[in-house]
Amino acid sequence: MPNVDMSVTLAGMTMKNPICVASGTYGFGREYGQFYDLSELGGICAKGLTLHRREGNPAPRIAETPMGILNSVGLQNPGVDAFIAEELPFLRQYDVKVIANISGNTPEEYGIMCEKLSEAGVDMIEVNISCPNVKAGGLAYGTRPELAAEVTQVAKAHAGKVPVMVKLSPNVTDITEIARAVEDGGADAVSLINTLRGMRIDVNTHRPILKMNTGGMSGPAVLPVAVRMVWEVSQAVKIPILGMGGVSRGEDAAQLMLAGATAVAVGTAMFADPFAPLKVRDELSHIAAKQGLERVAQLTGGVKPW
Ligand SMILES: Cc1cc2nc3c(=O)[nH]c(=O)nc-3n(C[C@H](O)[C@H](O)[C@H](O)COP(=O)(O)O)c2cc1C
Repeated sequence: MPNVDMSVTLAGMTMKNPICVASGTYGFGREYGQFYDLSELGGICAKGLTLHRREGNPAPRIAETPMGILNSVGLQNPGVDAFIAEELPFLRQYDVKVIANISGNTPEEYGIMCEKLSEAGVDMIEVNISCPNVKAGGLAYGTRPELAAEVTQVAKAHAGKVPVMVKLSPNVTDITEIARAVEDGGADAVSLINTLRGMRIDVNTHRPILKMNTGGMSGPAVLPVAVRMVWEVSQAVKIPILGMGGVSRGEDAAQLMLAGATAVAVGTAMFADPFAPLKVRDELSHIAAKQGLERVAQLTGGVKPW
């Protein structure tokens, strides 16, 4: 391995490398843990949690697209208490940062979950205000600056010392407006992008492929959108960014870091290759070495716009 310091610090949380796995694409790590030691990763954004367990949406809820997928899973999860009792102790066996991802129907629900998770001792809380696949809450908070700020304030007030990172939606006209609102609301970091709303139709039956009709698009096709949005947000706010959207190679992670991300998450790419995050990490360290960098963190914000 090249002699590059791969550690990064995101809102006071130091990770051994900048590679995380994106919420909802990694469950709680149990399945992927059969392939490799979870301690290889910088951080795990756990599957999105709600206050009470959810069955998620009816199937079909995944459809392929050129260089990506559409999903309408709809936050299927066992609920925050079951996560704390059963999944967190499993994740704690590993030397990896645990980032809990939460969605609420009301600001109060976000507050209750933050209180439970901070007491349980997660390393960071990722506040999802950008899920396109649920009716209540979700995207409604992520597309309106004043609601985004309110949810952030409530989360911060109940998270104790645990840093709060707010996950932004790309389904907006100006993502910097929401980023500024959550920074003003006290967010310690932002993560972006969540999925882009999309739709596919079966031309023979005239039926949408997904039972929910529409879904969220992710995978390699969305990378340029993610890079552009990370770049815009990095110029608009001072808080650090966890970048994601379409990462499947070291070069993709390097682009997000150059655009301004401190760390990067891999999601959909793992459905084709469970080892993708490790491959991305190793390729990224080679890119940094080839450029003569001592620390991978030197890539962050290094883009030279024309
Ligand atoms: C099947 C699936 C489920 C997801 N579930 C969540 C979730 O529970 N919470 C969340 O914040 N993001 C969720 N996401 C969004 C991802 O975390 C990520 O932001 C997005 O997929 C872009 O990254 P990618 O192109 O590398 O997958 C989900 C994505 C997929 C594909």
